[in-house]
Amino acid sequence: MVYKHGGNVYEISRDISADLNEIIDFSANINPLGISEKVKTEIIDNIDSIKHYPDYTYKRLKDKIVGYHREMCQITEENIYLSNGAADGIYNLISYLKPKKALLLAPTFGEYEMALDRVDCSVKYYFLKEKNGFRIDLEDYILKIEEDIDFIALCNPNNPTGQMTDKEDILTILDYCREHKINVLLDEAFCDFLMDESDHSLIDELLKYNNMYILRSLTKFFAMPGLRLGYILSGNSGVIGELKKTSPPWRINVIAEVAAISSLDDEEYINKSKENLNIEKAFMYDKMKQIKCLRVFEPSVNYIFFKINQGFCSMGIDLKKELIDRKILIRSCDNYVGLDGEFYRVAIKSRNENEILLRSIGEIFGGL
Ligand SMILES: Cc1ncc(COP(=O)(O)O)c(C=O)c1O
Repeated sequence: MVYKHGGNVYEISRDISADLNEIIDFSANINPLGISEKVKTEIIDNIDSIKHYPDYTYKRLKDKIVGYHREMCQITEENIYLSNGAADGIYNLISYLKPKKALLLAPTFGEYEMALDRVDCSVKYYFLKEKNGFRIDLEDYILKIEEDIDFIALCNPNNPTGQMTDKEDILTILDYCREHKINVLLDEAFCDFLMDESDHSLIDELLKYNNMYILRSLTKFFAMPGLRLGYILSGNSGVIGELKKTSPPWRINVIAEVAAISSLDDEEYINKSKENLNIEKAFMYDKMKQIKCLRVFEPSVNYIFFKINQGFCSMGIDLKKELIDRKILIRSCDNYVGLDGEFYRVAIKSRNENEILLRSIGEIFGGL
C-alpha cells in the first residue's frame, strides 16, 4: 500500500509550474489563522538558542503540557512522551508494542497501517458504512474485535470522515480492551479544535486505563506542520518510560520546543481559533450542502468530508484535477481503504479562500 498524504503543495507546484504561494491548499487541515504572532516573535527572539543542544529533559515543555491539560487530568511528566510530530509518535509506539494483530477503522488515517506493516502486524478492518454516516456502531464494532487482536487504533474525530465516536462508546471499548489485554491508540490530533473538548476527549480517563495511549499533535491547531511536534499521553508510565529509553536524545529541536511552549500559553489565539472555526465551519457546511451534486457529511472540526452524488459521477468530472487547474488543492480520498474516487476532503480555511473554493466547485458543476 502506498499511502499518500494531503498537503503536498511542493509536488503540485512543480507539476503545474506554479509558485508555491499561488496554490490554495485545502488538502492539509491546518488552522487558517496560521502561526500566532506571539509564537513568531518568540521563535525570532530565540533563534540564537539553536547554538545549544536542546534540554534533553524537555522539562519546560512537559510542564506546559501538564498545565494545558490540567482541567481534565492531573498528569505528570511520567505520562508524557514527546515526538517529532504525532506521526513519529505512532511509529515509535507501534514499534515498541509490536502488536501481532490489529483492528483499524476503514477509512481512517493511513499511518497506523504503515507503522503496523513495519512490525509485520496483520490488520483487520472495521468498515464504516456510508448508511450509518460513517459512524461506529458500537455492538457491531465490539463483535469485530476477534480473540487474538492485541491492538486497536481509534481516530476521534476520524480522519477523513470528520465523524466523532461518543465518549461513552469509547469508554465501553476501553473497558472491553482492558479486560482482553488489548492496547488502544486513541488519536485526538484534532481535538484542540473542539469547543467542548472535555465532552469528547478521553484525557480525563487517562490514569484509569493502563492500555490507552492518547495521541495529540501541535501541528494542526497551532499551524506548524513544518516544525513537527506531537506527544503521547498514557497512564502507563512504564511504557512511556521505555519509549523514552528507546528514543534518541534531543528528538525535539529547540525552535519546536520554544514554539510549542509559547503556543500552549497563547489563550487569546486558542479562543480566537475556535471561534473563527465555528463560524467558518457553519458557513462552509451550509454552502456545500446547497450544492446539489454533493453529499456532505457534517463536520466536527476543521475539515469537511463529502462525495459526489451518483448520477453526477457519471459526468466524468475529476474534481481534484479540475481544481488543480485553478491552483486549488483538495484531498481525493480514493486511496483510503473503504473509499473510492467519489469521496473528497477539504480543509476549512479563511472566508475568502472558502468562497474561492465554493465558487470554483459551482463553476465546475455548472451550478448543479
Ligand atoms: C488523524 C491524524 N493523526 C496524526 C497526524 C499526524 O500529525 P503530525 O503532523 O503531528 O505528525 C495526522 C496528520 O495529518 C492526522 O490526520
